[in-house]
Amino acid sequence: MLRIAVLNGPNLNMLGIREPGVYGSESLSAIEAQVKSKGDELGVQLSFFQTNHEGDMIDRIHSAYGSEDGIMINPGAWTHYSYAIRDALSAVSIPVVEVHLSNIHKREAFRHVSVVAPVALGQIAGFGAAGYVMALDALVRTLQSESS
Ligand code: DQA
Repeated sequence: MLRIAVLNGPNLNMLGIREPGVYGSESLSAIEAQVKSKGDELGVQLSFFQTNHEGDMIDRIHSAYGSEDGIMINPGAWTHYSYAIRDALSAVSIPVVEVHLSNIHKREAFRHVSVVAPVALGQIAGFGAAGYVMALDALVRTLQSESS
């Protein structure tokens, strides 16, 4: 059974409260429930993690080495500047899909850059909570096609 880590970075614990016009009105746990239901449908094992602390996220990414087959991550603001998160993802060499609720490319200029994108299989942005379900589907399809 494929094992996938579903990782969320800073301020994403505030979903539902935080700028609902940009990020929607659903809480992170409601989004995770939708991802879990897609995971059950796809027959994969999911592990959920959110932190506001960069070092804790780096440790969590390292812990995926040898124990998980794929990572989907919304790195929040770290997306735009954290070479440490990017290097951690690169270090473990596990296929990664980057996801964002908002379309970062049509927002402020500082959000247009993702330092994570070059180490990801791809990026899904702008579809709100549905993007998480799409990201899981894309990641699982890729992992399954690689293993067949
Ligand atoms: C975000 C976009 C980032 O620019 C922002 O800092 C976030 C959320 C998104 O999901 O749209 O925290 O990653």
